[in-house]
Amino acid sequence: MTPPIPPAFPAIRMRRNRKSDWARRMVRESRLSPDDLIWPVFLVDGDNIRQPVASMPHVERLSVDQAVLAAKEARELGIPCIAPFPYTNPELRDAEGSEALKSDNLVSRACRDIKDAVPEIGILTDVALDPYTSHGHDGLMDGDSILNDETVDILCQQAINQAKAGADIIAPSDMMDGRVGAIRKALDDSGFEDIQIMAYAAKYASCFYGPFRDAVGSESQLRGDKRTYQMDPGNSDEAMREVALDIAEGADMVMVKPGLPYLDIVYRVKSTFGMPTFAYQVSGEYAMIAAAAQNSWLDHDRAMMESLMSFKRAGADGILTYFAPAAAKSMLQD
Ligand code: PBG
Repeated sequence: MTPPIPPAFPAIRMRRNRKSDWARRMVRESRLSPDDLIWPVFLVDGDNIRQPVASMPHVERLSVDQAVLAAKEARELGIPCIAPFPYTNPELRDAEGSEALKSDNLVSRACRDIKDAVPEIGILTDVALDPYTSHGHDGLMDGDSILNDETVDILCQQAINQAKAGADIIAPSDMMDGRVGAIRKALDDSGFEDIQIMAYAAKYASCFYGPFRDAVGSESQLRGDKRTYQMDPGNSDEAMREVALDIAEGADMVMVKPGLPYLDIVYRVKSTFGMPTFAYQVSGEYAMIAAAAQNSWLDHDRAMMESLMSFKRAGADGILTYFAPAAAKSMLQD
């Protein structure tokens, strides 16, 4: 009988498996592919418009025709899904966010044109009122408080509006209680039983959404903060309860947001529920890397890929990221 090899140096040399690129490739545990990416894009009214977003280097607001080009680019790069977010003109914003229910609003027009031109990729639409309200909140207000059940009724109508326009995945990001179940029922009652729901299940009240609010124009409007509906950054068990509820209400996929500062939550959600689990690398995370790279303080592509890999390592099945096209290009080159 051969004696067991003692699991120690010098018999064990961990560096052997790292000695060259081919050896490292053989033992790599997590891999990234364009299939892992969902590309959020910002929309703006008009034609042939590409408007830089100051706080997000290389990110632009796109008119619908340009968003169609972006969808074509996504298809060429193998990115499976695109997620349009609107910059709504201030004069169209009101206390109820009524623009969200218009069948010809920016998101609806983008869904229709993208579906027409690029039927091979998925469209994920965000359900929440903040791009449309004069106060910048995700729901209806009564004085200083956000009304839950009244908001859920409107969110159901918003979801139906998006489904009619061609959205494939409805993603409620509002954090009202009970909205996933209500939206599921509303979709089913309208004959949209094949439309998926990706719930922003554990969404934290985070300062990392700052550049996004700049991009959709809700930052200057926002009265107060979102701490009565988005989660407290100190909580982890509560995230498990949120995710469990959304699954029970019919979510097909769950999401954790923000991403990098909440990788422990991504890991815990994936290992606890085994659901298709997504992470949103949000605008502020993007801005940190892009701004540092602009100053040559970080290598742009390496920081981008390392941050994306960390999501896969934590167990995410996919990542919503503004880096999607750049990352896909980098993956296809390697
Ligand atoms: C809307 C919504 C937000 C984000 C996605 N959907 C902003 C917020 O909740 O204030 C943030 C995305 C990002 O920062 O990239 N409810």
